Amino acid sequence: MSTTTTTEVKDVASKEQRDLVVLGIESSCDDSCVGIIRYPTGEILADERTSQFHVHSSYGGIVPILAVREHEVNLPKVLEKALDTIPPSTKIDLIAVTTGPGLKACLRTGMNSALQLADKLQVPVMGVNHLEAHTLVCQLENKNVKYPFMTLLVSGGHTCLSITETPGRHRELGSTLDDAMGEAFDKVIRSLNDPEACSRHGGAVLESLAMKGKPNPSLRLPVALRGPTHKRPRGLEFSFSGLKSATSRTIAKNEFPVEDIAFEFQRAAVEHAINVVQLGLNTEHPKVAQLVVCGGVASNKVLRQKLGELGRKQRVEVIFPTPRLCVDNGVMVAWAGAERWAHARDDERSKLLITRETNPRARWPLGELSLS
Ligand code: KG4
Ligand code: ZN
Repeated sequence: MSTTTTTEVKDVASKEQRDLVVLGIESSCDDSCVGIIRYPTGEILADERTSQFHVHSSYGGIVPILAVREHEVNLPKVLEKALDTIPPSTKIDLIAVTTGPGLKACLRTGMNSALQLADKLQVPVMGVNHLEAHTLVCQLENKNVKYPFMTLLVSGGHTCLSITETPGRHRELGSTLDDAMGEAFDKVIRSLNDPEACSRHGGAVLESLAMKGKPNPSLRLPVALRGPTHKRPRGLEFSFSGLKSATSRTIAKNEFPVEDIAFEFQRAAVEHAINVVQLGLNTEHPKVAQLVVCGGVASNKVLRQKLGELGRKQRVEVIFPTPRLCVDNGVMVAWAGAERWAHARDDERSKLLITRETNPRARWPLGELSLS
């Protein structure tokens, strides 16, 4: 059991309106990350990360057992580095750690590190939902983001459109029926056997390739679910697997320049995401005036540009975290933890805490974060 006491929770609770120093740990997939921030100013005191691209690239996907091994080696290192970065007099008030969704064994490694550190520092440790961390991190840099807002979350494991009412309260409008958007980018780059995928995100590699390509109408890659809303199960779903398969088949034919294939794939994937967002805005605007775009794919320049254009047309402010905060990091976990903590009632805060008995969650949709 963690030795967190009610007094410690009260100590942090009483600091709620003042400056909180929060340490965030992320290990849900293949990145071991630690971030330390001040809340509510958003000052980043430390941001340490290690990736595992080189470990998994030859397997065609994340290998959980290898990922855990890497976290076990890397987490203590990034933790030590982060703690060494801050002045020794800085007192950490709260530890936040991702407890789902993700690979259970990987999450467990992060949770164990968090609980160990909490015992040493005698501070509370709370669980954070990875998707909420992506959703809320933009507020660290942009204090004009106001609840409720619409959120497009596009990452390697998730793709969904939701309304973010407050921390802990999210209304899902639609999610992907098959692949996540980032997953499709990753699989296409894998079909190309691009060696760069050993050192960078597949999506980022594809984006660089697409920049060298040009429109090529003979490719005819399909944009999914283009038809009227009633043909979709709920109206706001995404689908990327058809596009991914068509692209892989086109690559295999060897008839077109790979740069043009990357260009057309990216164009079709972005167009599909934009179509869904537009449908969402049609139903939810003017109730929401801001659209937050987050997750690893939100660092894509074409997506940023096209969503910016859509926002200007629809008179909706479109907000992106800085690209570095779009991909997985510990800062977002620290920020989301602090934001959730600050918005929770006194009697709710103890429900956010984790102990050695807390189980990591492989599946944990945004709609299931409420404490009541
Ligand atoms: O949020 P994230 O770091 O991890 C998950 O929670 O999944 O997102 C990683 C995903 C990967 O699929 C990666 O290829 C994609 O984001 N990604 C990009 C770009 N940078 C990362 N996709 C498209 N364009 C990019 N520039
Ligand atoms: Zn993520």
